[in-house]
Amino acid sequence: MKYGRVLLKNVEGYVPGEQPKETGVIKLNTNENPYPPSPKVLEAIRALGPDAFRKYPDPVSAAFREACAERYDLPGVDWVIAGNGMDELLALAVRTFADPGDTVLATYPTYSLYEVLCQLHGCAIHYADLDEDFQPTEELFTTPARICLLTRPNAPSGVSAPREAVERLCRVFQGIVVIDEAYVDFGDDHCMDFPQRFDNAIVMRTFSKSFSLAGMRIGTAAAQPEIIREFLKTKDSYNMDACSQAAGLAAMQDYAHMRASAEKVRATRARLRRALLDLGFRVPESQANFLLAQWRGTPSACTIFERLRDQRILVRYFDARRLDDALRITVGTDAECDALIRAIRGIIV
Ligand SMILES: Cc1ncc(COP(=O)(O)O)c(C=O)c1O
Repeated sequence: MKYGRVLLKNVEGYVPGEQPKETGVIKLNTNENPYPPSPKVLEAIRALGPDAFRKYPDPVSAAFREACAERYDLPGVDWVIAGNGMDELLALAVRTFADPGDTVLATYPTYSLYEVLCQLHGCAIHYADLDEDFQPTEELFTTPARICLLTRPNAPSGVSAPREAVERLCRVFQGIVVIDEAYVDFGDDHCMDFPQRFDNAIVMRTFSKSFSLAGMRIGTAAAQPEIIREFLKTKDSYNMDACSQAAGLAAMQDYAHMRASAEKVRATRARLRRALLDLGFRVPESQANFLLAQWRGTPSACTIFERLRDQRILVRYFDARRLDDALRITVGTDAECDALIRAIRGIIV
């Protein structure tokens, strides 16, 4: 491409999981929630009058951020910023807190978008490998960088690092620590108290998973007001549209709906994990809405992935170091997970 930036020459871009057009597919590949969002969200969107579409939305999403600050026990609205999905806020974090040429630290494995964001900004990414059990090693605490991007619970393993490890990281790291809590509502604990304790901590959340709103694109970041002010300088003028602001606010106001749906996912996750272990997979204990099912038998994990796809069951396969012997499986409904287990049983005998 002769007109592109030199920087983009070797950038492949992020490859999202497949979104099939046809119906009747069991879709366990992109960590969506199998249950619908709160009916109050749909009501709030329907209640938007023509003016909500004719006029620009609130540029700083004040009502939605207010509700988030309250729910997250933050001192005020100036402790939170809203975004067009968490992906936007992750990109903003790299653009706001690192200069081109700087190093960004992440664990390996982790959310594969991070590397793309670094490439796009001309930053190097340094991976501190997680150990066999997907826990951080000393390298994470001793590597200097401008930003550390930490997914907790980790993706794609689902394993959560101990809170004490994240505390230690915030204390010793000489830059911004982004704690990506995309899946935290399916876990046992969280780090939302960290922004008040550490001036370098940013805790990010998404409404795509536990709130069943991946189609709306809603994310938040919580941090000290000084950090939020920097984000406000770099974000797009109207980064959250009127529908997303209304949906996010209604979702926050019906928190019990999200909690109930996350609870169902947790129960199915335990059943699915048991069934996969019984089939001979190694499956780390997950705090997220997916499981990493590691497979050393025959046929290969890649072949299982392909045969499942032939049967219209989608899971995620990563052709990458430490992941190419595994399937990442989103926790669906009980019926979807039963169908998956039946299909795998037919493939591996
Ligand atoms: C670890 C992690 N962080 C962030 C996101 C992105 O969230 P959003 O849909 O709000 O952009 C994802 C989505 O898959 C994710 O897996």
